[in-house]
Amino acid sequence: MDEKNFQNAQDQSVVERLKPPFQTVKGVHDILPSDHEYFTYIKKVVRHRARQAGFKRISTPMFEFSDVFIRSLGEETDIVSKEMYTFNDKKGRSLTLKPEGTAGLVRSYIQHNMSQLAQPVMLYYIEPHFRYDRPQAGRYRQFWQFGFEILGECDPALDAQVIQIAKKINEDLGLGGLFTIQLNTIGTPESRAKYLEVLKDFYAGKERSLCENCKYRLEKNVLRLLDCKEEDCQILAKMAPAMSDYIDKESLEFHEELKSYLDELGIEYVDNPKIIRGLDYYSRTVFEFWDKNKGAQNAIGGGGRFDGLVKLMGGPETPAIGYAGGIERLIANMKREKVRVPSKDELHIFVAQLGKEAKKKCLVLIEELREAGLKTMGAVGKASINVQLRMADKFKVPYAIIIGLTEVREGNVIVRDMQKGVQEKVPLNKVISHMQDLIGDENLDKYSPTDFVY
Ligand code: HAM
Repeated sequence: MDEKNFQNAQDQSVVERLKPPFQTVKGVHDILPSDHEYFTYIKKVVRHRARQAGFKRISTPMFEFSDVFIRSLGEETDIVSKEMYTFNDKKGRSLTLKPEGTAGLVRSYIQHNMSQLAQPVMLYYIEPHFRYDRPQAGRYRQFWQFGFEILGECDPALDAQVIQIAKKINEDLGLGGLFTIQLNTIGTPESRAKYLEVLKDFYAGKERSLCENCKYRLEKNVLRLLDCKEEDCQILAKMAPAMSDYIDKESLEFHEELKSYLDELGIEYVDNPKIIRGLDYYSRTVFEFWDKNKGAQNAIGGGGRFDGLVKLMGGPETPAIGYAGGIERLIANMKREKVRVPSKDELHIFVAQLGKEAKKKCLVLIEELREAGLKTMGAVGKASINVQLRMADKFKVPYAIIIGLTEVREGNVIVRDMQKGVQEKVPLNKVISHMQDLIGDENLDKYSPTDFVY
């Protein structure tokens, strides 16, 4: 499709979305029930691994003052310069939908004086984020991340633990062997400053070989030239002076120590000097989880140290390390790998009734069945028993309970095995325990939010 046709098609798609029947805005998607099974499973895995290691959950607001992100991520980063959803509220204040989780979390750490709590403070989140990215497979404008952040201690053993938890989560999700861990150290901002000068000198006179993006980055964010995905830029990046020759000795020692911990934990990694990450707040450790087949494209997650961020945002000197994983990308991998997730949405019973009296009885029965852990629907519509049984079939329930006028009079119900097509009469006062036996204790949905013990 040529440029003009492409533009026409784009315009057409916008017009289509703007009139009834409406469609989602480009780059965002509904999470339908079939995908929620994956979401639920991933959230459970994340919560489990977080609690096991002492992390507590935090949710920061969906939007913050724009400066929270501009200051922490850096004005010249792709996210701040191109991808933020920024708007003015009625009082003219500039607000931004959160494009990532670390900045708001750090704002919260400072606002709530968390430096007074026992350190390190270990927090995790599972939240939607918003970036005006170019939509494509694995790249959305609203997407979910889970993240882990440890604030208040500086020790490579913590970096190792964050990487370990991220890896464990991938394994729990059945994606263990799919990713490589790309690891690097980018030193302290001070030592990096020297390297940035060297890098600028290296690129001087080579501008014509760079992509448009990198020509711009050369002025504003020269480090990003190292991880550009364009072929010509990659060739130059390979020839560029190595960062490790310029960054401070302590950072290099810190990196060596981290690697020795990863070795001890049996965690494989690739020492990749070209990993720099796209956000200004990082210092020292940076890492990404790459698909073994696709490389840098669509990383499943990434993180690193942000030792200077709390101070930069107005708080006390506070070292920190964190990681965030992309939930939609994990789900895409799980689907591709045919990872099965538990489905708890299937119904056990459909209750079909005939007549007003039977409907009254069956409403009470439905409630009792549900309270007993049996997932039940029924009392829908006024159609004949046969029509209702066809409905039961469509909802794929293993059992139907039928209550007609005779059953109400006799105090019985009919229990129908939908697969075998056989049915039996059961006294109304025995039907709960009878159904529990049929469904099996282990399959009952008996969760109650009020069932907890101190
Ligand atoms: P990030 O690399 O920008 O890091 O995002 C982390 C992950 O979010 C990515 O690896 C990817 O899986 C997912 N992701 C990012 N953008 C999109 C998108 N447009 N569509 C779908 N998924 C996406 C951060 O956000 C840092 N806050 C991570 C961190 C935490 N560093 C320290 N602590």
